[in-house]
Amino acid sequence: MTGHFDLTRRLPDGYFTDALHTDVLKGLTGRPKTLPPKWFYDGRGSELFEEITQLPEYYPTRAEHAILRERCDEIASATGARTLVELGSGSSRKTRLLLDSLLRHGTLESYAALDVSTDALREAGEQLRREYPDLKVTGCVTDLETDLGMPDGAPGPRLVAFLGGTLGNLDGDARPAFYAALHSELGPGDALLLGADLVKDQGVLVRAYDDAQGVTAEFNKNVLRVLNRELGADFDPDAFQHVSVWNEGEERVEMRLRSIRAQAVELPALEMTAEFEEGEEILTEIAVKFRRAALAAELACGGFELSHWWTDGEQRFALLLAEPAADRPGARPLSP
Ligand code: SAH
Ligand code: AVI
Repeated sequence: MTGHFDLTRRLPDGYFTDALHTDVLKGLTGRPKTLPPKWFYDGRGSELFEEITQLPEYYPTRAEHAILRERCDEIASATGARTLVELGSGSSRKTRLLLDSLLRHGTLESYAALDVSTDALREAGEQLRREYPDLKVTGCVTDLETDLGMPDGAPGPRLVAFLGGTLGNLDGDARPAFYAALHSELGPGDALLLGADLVKDQGVLVRAYDDAQGVTAEFNKNVLRVLNRELGADFDPDAFQHVSVWNEGEERVEMRLRSIRAQAVELPALEMTAEFEEGEEILTEIAVKFRRAALAAELACGGFELSHWWTDGEQRFALLLAEPAADRPGARPLSP
């Protein structure tokens, strides 16, 4: 078989334009101002994220990679997956450990990568096609917040991987919705492999999101460049300061962009002007950090039973396997 890579789009034409318009209108008229993190990831944003993963301060990628290296064979034999589906796959770099193990194990037939970033999917897909000529590799440009459908013709057992700690970029309302949507897609024998960053010293956490080289600052400001290009906006990225803070009550790092002066920004596509006071902030990302008991409890509420929990040597990051339970306790019974 010759290797091939299919890139598909599942959402209707215009979905991303509409979603961006809705998000920015709501986010910049609300108090505090917010922008959802999914708009970081155009081609440049995806490249900047890859640079972040190499930074000395940004430990999560290395920690998760170390766990995967140690546990990939265990994961392969525990799941026997014929299909690996990865949500928010980005460069699929760490995924190669799983692909190799599942192929050695003799079960894997296909790998489906799902991501909002067309550029990241295309680059990863083309490389994987060359590296794994006998594997069916597909990419799907989609928004995990509205579409978690499993790819067509993906034989079970399926292993759904959601790595990197991206779960933490969802807030306490979005995570239950995510578990519910995923639970409705999975059946007996399928499994969820989840990477979760853990609560730790706040200095370490804040520095992971505010590196000395300023790569994370560029990544944060990239959302303004996306809005300039897509909405004809006139944000001056230099007029905003990158901020990383630990929110103790919510146990999450928050990335914000702070306006260094009073200013008005035009967004012609939305026929709006966003006014900023000096020091006013836009919340651009939350990165929730987890504790084992609370994460296991919220997974159980979402219908997933924890079967394995692994951490790196320094207990910074956790990788867990969970199975869909037959019923979802959080689900409301249908009214008669
Ligand atoms: N899993 C990779 C990449 C993490 S970066 C790793 O562990 O290194 C987060 C990834 O999720 C990016 O590739 C980004 O494009 C994707 N992403 C963010 N929000 C998304 C959304 N709403 N729908 C689909 N993909 C999303
Ligand atoms: C993708 N996600 C898990 C990253 C994180 O750590 O929250 C995104 C990121 N933001 C700043 N640095 C990395």
